[in-house]
Amino acid sequence: MKPTNSPKTYRVKSFGCQMNVYDGERMAEMLGERGIVPAPEGEDADLVVLNTCHIREKAAEKVYSDIGRLTKGKTQDKAPMIAVAGCVAQAEGEEIMARAPAVSMVVGPQAYHRLPEMLDKAVQGERATDTDMPAIAKFAALPERKRTNPASFLTVQEGCDKFCTYCVVPYTRGAEISRPYGDLVTEARKLVDAGAKEITLLGQNVSAWSGEDDKGHAVGLAGLIRDLAKVDGLARIRYTTSHPADMDDDLIAAHGEIDKLMPFLHLPVQAGSDRVLKAMNRSHTAESYLRLLERFRAARPDLALSGDFIVGFPGETDAEFEETLKLVDAVGYAQAFSFKYSPRPGTPAASMEGQVAKEVMDERLQRLQAALNRDQWAFNRATEGRTCEVLVERKGKHPGQWLGKTPWLQSAWFEGDVGIGDLVQVELVEAGPNSLAGRLRECVAA
Ligand code: 5AD
Ligand code: SF4
Repeated sequence: MKPTNSPKTYRVKSFGCQMNVYDGERMAEMLGERGIVPAPEGEDADLVVLNTCHIREKAAEKVYSDIGRLTKGKTQDKAPMIAVAGCVAQAEGEEIMARAPAVSMVVGPQAYHRLPEMLDKAVQGERATDTDMPAIAKFAALPERKRTNPASFLTVQEGCDKFCTYCVVPYTRGAEISRPYGDLVTEARKLVDAGAKEITLLGQNVSAWSGEDDKGHAVGLAGLIRDLAKVDGLARIRYTTSHPADMDDDLIAAHGEIDKLMPFLHLPVQAGSDRVLKAMNRSHTAESYLRLLERFRAARPDLALSGDFIVGFPGETDAEFEETLKLVDAVGYAQAFSFKYSPRPGTPAASMEGQVAKEVMDERLQRLQAALNRDQWAFNRATEGRTCEVLVERKGKHPGQWLGKTPWLQSAWFEGDVGIGDLVQVELVEAGPNSLAGRLRECVAA
């Protein structure tokens, strides 16, 4: 390959989970350190990073069609330099290099701190792949946080040791690692200095986070949250995603004790049938999950609950699916995510007998989503008439309109003289299925 010009502008396209959003921001920061700037809206970028997701569906095909779109009709000196990052890069890096000559760099989720070196090579016309997994080294090598949103993400834990039989994450993100306590407190302070009012602690299995505090005491996620709550200027803390097996008493108690910890819990259950849960290797039953939620609700009665569901896991019968609907009725989720089972290469479930027909999955998903939407709207209606704190995140569609999040992670829109990052009191006036219309009461803090 012949040398190319150094890119002057970039665009990072992140797909999938919030951790990819976080990784995408950190890659953008590294490119920024190099003097490469974000491409203006509507203009082609010199360098495009496709930060991919492998959790469901034809993820790899999507990458190839994105690459095709980026290079279509363009000569070599006009086409952007392309980097493929994220979990598809980790899982299928070599194939991507072989199949897509337009790709200069393939970089896995634990290796993207090496993107600048790879870029130097790419400018010399050398293609590079890095799918090593030195997770902690990555964080140490990243630049300091200087810019952020009022609602920011902070990765505290990566990887997963749970090996649910349908899931690729243990293979693409690797074994569970916890970032050190001190690094997290420092990064949280930097985020607050840069304007963050809310921090969501991220991890594939975030409740498995463990570390040693500055006095050398062993602490879990609740201990970390307690100490982050002491950071001046930080108003709200959230965490996601948790596994029911790792929710300890201390974390439950934290929901009742720490005002800054928002009344929201995302706790995936996946299915309501104990036989299916066992085949998924989930290590909880429907009953143990419900009992756990009761304990959280006892600690924080206004807790909003969220979950993840998979319909059509291999072998799932109609009657077993009905048990999922029964569980949904019993919980009353404030919001939830639901998916059709998607066989992932290399996972045990992909080769299980009894793969469920697409039409059956479609029908189950529709019924499940109807129930979840019904409950989400009911939850929103139950908050009508309340006045609560809203964090202003962005402008709305109409002039003078703003959009923010309630403590229960609902979207609320309202009009008034406020700015992004303000924490304001809003009366929730009218609930819709996905958001609420509100009325500004008074400004609490800028
Ligand atoms: N098929 C469908 N959904 C999946 N998820 C993970 N793997 C699969 C799969 N193979 C869902 C789970 C998980 C969420 C992040 O994605 O519900 O909690
Ligand atoms: Fe995947 Fe979550 Fe199960 Fe880990 S706990 S294997 S990330 S679904």
